[in-house]
Amino acid sequence: MSRYLVTAALPYANGPVHIGHLAGAYLPADIYVRYLRAMGNDVAFICGSDEHGVPITIRAKKEGITPQQAVNKYHEIIKKSFADFGVQFDIYHRTSDPVHHRTAADFFKKLYDKGEFIIEESEQYFDEEAGMFLADRYITGTCPACSNPNAYGDQCEKCGKSLSPKELIQPHSQLSGKPPILKSTKHWYLPLDRYQKEWLEKWILSHKDDWKPNVFGQCKSWMDQGLQPRAVTRDLDWGVPVPLPDAEGKVLYVWFDAPIGYISATIALFEQRNDPKGWEKYWKDSETRLINFIGKDNIVFHCIIFPAMLKAHGDYILPTNVPANEFLNLEGEKISTSRNWAVWLNEYIQDFPGKEDVLRYVLCATAPETKDNDFTWKDFQARNNSELVAILGNFVNRTLVLTGKYFDSKVPAKGVLQTVDKACINAMNDAPEKIGQHIQHYKFREALFELIDLARTGNKYLAETEPWKLYSTDPSRVATILAVALELTSKLAILMEPFMPFTAERLKNMLNLKNAGWKDLPVSQLPEGHQLGEASLLFEKIEDEAIEKQIQKLASSKSSNSSQQKSISAQKSSTTFDQFQTMDIRIGTILEAERVPKTDKLLKLTIDTGIDKRTVVSGIAAHYQPESIVGQQVTILVNLEPRKIKGIESQGMILMAENESGELSFIAPVKPVNNGGTVS
Ligand code: 2FM
Ligand code: ZN
Repeated sequence: MSRYLVTAALPYANGPVHIGHLAGAYLPADIYVRYLRAMGNDVAFICGSDEHGVPITIRAKKEGITPQQAVNKYHEIIKKSFADFGVQFDIYHRTSDPVHHRTAADFFKKLYDKGEFIIEESEQYFDEEAGMFLADRYITGTCPACSNPNAYGDQCEKCGKSLSPKELIQPHSQLSGKPPILKSTKHWYLPLDRYQKEWLEKWILSHKDDWKPNVFGQCKSWMDQGLQPRAVTRDLDWGVPVPLPDAEGKVLYVWFDAPIGYISATIALFEQRNDPKGWEKYWKDSETRLINFIGKDNIVFHCIIFPAMLKAHGDYILPTNVPANEFLNLEGEKISTSRNWAVWLNEYIQDFPGKEDVLRYVLCATAPETKDNDFTWKDFQARNNSELVAILGNFVNRTLVLTGKYFDSKVPAKGVLQTVDKACINAMNDAPEKIGQHIQHYKFREALFELIDLARTGNKYLAETEPWKLYSTDPSRVATILAVALELTSKLAILMEPFMPFTAERLKNMLNLKNAGWKDLPVSQLPEGHQLGEASLLFEKIEDEAIEKQIQKLASSKSSNSSQQKSISAQKSSTTFDQFQTMDIRIGTILEAERVPKTDKLLKLTIDTGIDKRTVVSGIAAHYQPESIVGQQVTILVNLEPRKIKGIESQGMILMAENESGELSFIAPVKPVNNGGTVS
């Protein structure tokens, strides 16, 4: 038995999670952990929400709520999605928790006391009107490489070039829209250049053969370019305050505090278990294997910066492996939150209830393990119908139905084995080792292919032996065939558990095999006479209609993106002041929001207008998730004549602002205004 600490990247709590997240880090981590546990290892599986940094403050600003409100909302949504998909963390923690603030501050302080940091004053962009320094994402300007006028201070999303704010041409602040000024500020830097020479490069190179080639390749290229000192503090008001007296208004850089979140989550886990020192063996004992599952955009932080922090601290182990996946695309295009080009896990659950394992299966089969890969709805349907239903489900169903019919659902006696039986038995005996080896080497797709191949072997076995034709003439031969097929079914139930835990559970119930696990595989779990449970279909066919609906949903995201990519529209002809005065525009708050069934664009909202509570149908479904807008203040035209939309009476209109890429955003007051406050 070995000890493992397995982490999955802490997702930013700035929106729900989608299939790209699941396929990138969480599903492979969960499969790995389920396998390790099944083999009897001691595993702590850690994750939580990354609640600091500019992605959070930008999201909060967009929604007109505080950063804390934003993370509270998305933390719950994300946590639920992972639980719904069976991702079995020991703890799903969060970085706004006091345990984390304390752990991250202590970590920084220890490095400071050891004299690890370089302290440097430098000139950085400052927005005079907003009175604050501008983090990279708060500055936009023209990209020096491709002339994109909307490049960010850290990256141009058009050409992909990574930038520093000072490289932008004509920079302006996202807060005031004005050009920022340069102002001097002090920050703490980790001397990565020194670490590179002292030990880091050697350590990275020592992993040439055991880290995935995509991971090692990226690290090597960073080394070849030469590392630079890296600032680990920021001028921001959201994050873990820098624990020093001369650091007012400064917080730890989110990429400094987030990975420490793995440590604080482990501490919190053992506090919950009333074993306050229990966490230490996972982080301080060199026998522990630390495995960080991440997506490819996190490689530098987990393979270079976090190990540098851990080593500088001195008390902690370094990662054994950092199995990063590449990116999953959707229908040939990059998944994008802002363009709503994604399959959101919370929406999938609603659209395909009870089919969590189907998505786990398809995402594992198409996981971007070595290169970017594509998820398409047609492939999803094909894998469900022609693999899960036609191979795995069909084999299990035929075996159980025939055993019910001929042997009253009791395991029959095995007689003399023929060559065909022995071949099937050999295949099932070899499978656990093959599947296990692939999992241990982070080759989850290959592991899954072995699993489905074993079911394919079962189907072939039934097709060759044709027990349904033999019962009247040779019932004892039928008994042997079904005993072998049942044996295979029981092995499948155990072997599928890391990949499809819900289905494994159902199949074990059908076999009346509740407690069997991976370690029991070498021994038959189905002695002669064992009574089976009730059989039902493991998988059902997914019809074209359900797939078309999903494709339509994506198409409507696309049309709402492109139709609105237009230049500034011309000014309308004049209106009179009196005409304008007839419009009664108020501030209100969204109390409830739900999708209007059978439409892609409409949400039914209940609004507190201050005057009353009323229903408004609004065409914003492509831009906002219903659960994300409850509590949002809005501007509403209250005296618009009511009209019926899709059979619902809409009593008013929400006014929305539209940006150049067609995204709609609410218009909410900047200072507090009660519901019913007028807009004039
Ligand atoms: O890329 C992201 O979503 C980051 N929030 C991942 C952080 S991983 C770890 F360091 F916490
Ligand atoms: Zn560019």
